[in-house]
Amino acid sequence: MSQVAGKTVIITGASRGIGESAARVFAEAGANVVLTARSSNAIDAIATEIGGSAMAMACDVADYDAVTAVVAATVERFGGVDILINNAGVVEPISHLDQSVPADWGQVIDINLKGVYHGMRAVMPVMEATGGGSILTISSGAAHGPVEAWSHYCASKAAVNMLTRCIDKEARDKGIRAIGLSPGTVATQMQREIKASGINPVSKLDWSDHIPPEWPAKCLLWMCGSDADTWLGDEISLRDEGVRKQVGLV
Ligand SMILES: NC(=O)c1ccc[n+]([C@@H]2O[C@H](COP(=O)([O-])OP(=O)(O)OC[C@H]3O[C@@H](n4cnc5c(N)ncnc54)[C@H](OP(=O)(O)O)[C@@H]3O)[C@@H](O)[C@H]2O)c1
Repeated sequence: MSQVAGKTVIITGASRGIGESAARVFAEAGANVVLTARSSNAIDAIATEIGGSAMAMACDVADYDAVTAVVAATVERFGGVDILINNAGVVEPISHLDQSVPADWGQVIDINLKGVYHGMRAVMPVMEATGGGSILTISSGAAHGPVEAWSHYCASKAAVNMLTRCIDKEARDKGIRAIGLSPGTVATQMQREIKASGINPVSKLDWSDHIPPEWPAKCLLWMCGSDADTWLGDEISLRDEGVRKQVGLV
């Protein structure tokens, strides 16, 4: 029996890419899956395809009220939230900081940073009231190293890494398992946008350099188990061969 069978997971950014794959992997493992994203048609279609207890609810993570509404609907339908996967994220508009449009730069912070804060803020009281849960957040190599024309993205991912560390300090003893996942480069729409920008070395990578979205999805499932407790309050890198072996990818 899988460690997430019968558990309830909310996945942000589940309309495509890593989030969609995670929804399929967690549903396959027997979890109740709540798919959220702005594209309601896409998440409705994926939830229908998954069937069973999958539920779709449109939500812009930049809107705290919309995030709390998803958490409330999840509690109403499934009785609680065991796992939150903070996956929603954007990299556009890619531009040098001295040419960036302040409102657009800020919108990336609203999604990538405040969106993660909103998810954590909304689920933590619910999880703590029921003995805890896992809050898994997609990080990036960009959290740790500067990348040309990605100042918004690097700043947001660095800050989100600190959010994981902070909630671990505050709430590990309340049963909150907070872990980040830096997946490496993944073959998704985001990498198509990066390639189209042509700006930095990441945009020059060959498509075959990217891992499939199923890899981070399977890693997220593995992160729900105690084997990943070594990384509580920290970040797992899926570039690490040892991690790939433990997850069963190689
Ligand atoms: N691909 C990579 O190489 C890579 C590497 C490191 C980290 N990551 C991270 O992995 C995560 C997933 O990215 P991906 O590669 O799967 O990209 P993707 O295919 O572009 O998917 C991004 C997802 O985020 C959702 N999203 C964007 N803005 C949102 C908002 N305001 N509210 C709710 N959902 C929103 C999108 O749905 P809607 O547009 O329908 O809202 C979509 O489902 C991101 O956090 C990204 O930074 C990706």
